[in-house]
Formats: sequence, C-alpha cells, structure tokens
Amino acid sequence: MIKNKNSFAIKDIFDQDEIDLLIKISQKTDDVKNQGENFFAYTNGFSYNFLPSTIRKKITNQIGSHQPTVCMILKEHVPWPIHSDYSGKNDRNKPTWAILIPLDYSTDTHTVIFAEKEMQNLSNYKNNNKVKNHTFSEKELDLLSHIKKEDLQYVSDPIFYQWKIGSLICWQRNLLHCSDNFTTNKNDYKIALVAFFCEDD
Ligand SMILES: [Fe+2]
Repeated sequence: MIKNKNSFAIKDIFDQDEIDLLIKISQKTDDVKNQGENFFAYTNGFSYNFLPSTIRKKITNQIGSHQPTVCMILKEHVPWPIHSDYSGKNDRNKPTWAILIPLDYSTDTHTVIFAEKEMQNLSNYKNNNKVKNHTFSEKELDLLSHIKKEDLQYVSDPIFYQWKIGSLICWQRNLLHCSDNFTTNKNDYKIALVAFFCEDD
C-alpha cells in the first residue's frame, strides 16, 4: 500500500537475513566524511541497484515506483541539526521520498520529522517564514537539546520515529527534519541505510 502521508514508519518489514546483509554492505563501504565544514557523519555512497531485489521491492511497495538518486550508508557520530533533503545534484526530476533503514545504534534514537516544508535549507526557511512558537514538551526538548533554541521556534508538530531493527522510516524530501540528540556518551553512534528518490521519468 502506498501511503498518502508526508511521513510514516513501518515496523518489522525487513527480516534478520536482510538486515544482516545490509550490515555486511555497511562494513564494506569506505568512510567518506559528509560535505560541508562541520563533521557529523560518514555518508558512504553506493549504487541502489546493488541492493537485493527483495529489499527494493519492499521499499517500492511502500512509497511507489521512484528513481533512486542517492543511496548511502550513514554512520552518524554528531546529531544532525534541522535540514531538508530536497536539493540534490543527481535529481533529474522532482524530488520525492527519503527512506531510512536503521542498522545499528549505540543508544535509543529517533529521526525527528517536522511539519514544515523547505526546498533549500533552514536559513532560507527562517528568512522567509515567521516563528511558529510551538510548545515542545520537556521530553521533546531533551531529545532536541542539540538544536539551537532559535531554530526550534521555526518548526512545529514533530514526529519522533524511533529507530528499530527491521523498520523502514520514510518522509517527503521537502520536510524539515533532524536527528535526536543520541550522544549521551562520547562514543555514541548510529548507522543506517539512507536513500533519496525523485519522480520516475
Ligand atoms: Fe536528512
């Protein structure tokens, strides 16, 4: 079933054999630091078509048929701030979905999706929109403790998708989102397969 939603997660969609295979792939990729000045993660790209057809089929069943434009093993060490995954140089058509398959994490963690849409970046969003003044609970503020207070004023209605082995997390690429603050200990990390799609030709 293709979801008529901007974001969703499906539990237990992948079996242990599929996860083990993805973990094997993740161990084989060479570590490439993320683009930009600050280090957050290794973003190790590889060909989406290298994934077994059973895994690709399960993803297509959820989001529909789209063209993969980015496929990577994400090894995150510093929690990602609020951003959009919309812009990408490999997109030949309109960007559609981002997907994430959790593979390994040192501590309980979430991907946090907000209601706001942006095609460039957070600074652009802040320049063109008013503050939302959404009230976050204490627990939410705790999970978002790495986000600047000023940035949090511009986003609302967060959905916290907890990482679970076997799950698939999907969101529209124009949605502002971030990691939670999973770094309670110095060596905390999280590893996932991440792919971006655009409309088919
Ligand atoms: Fe992202």
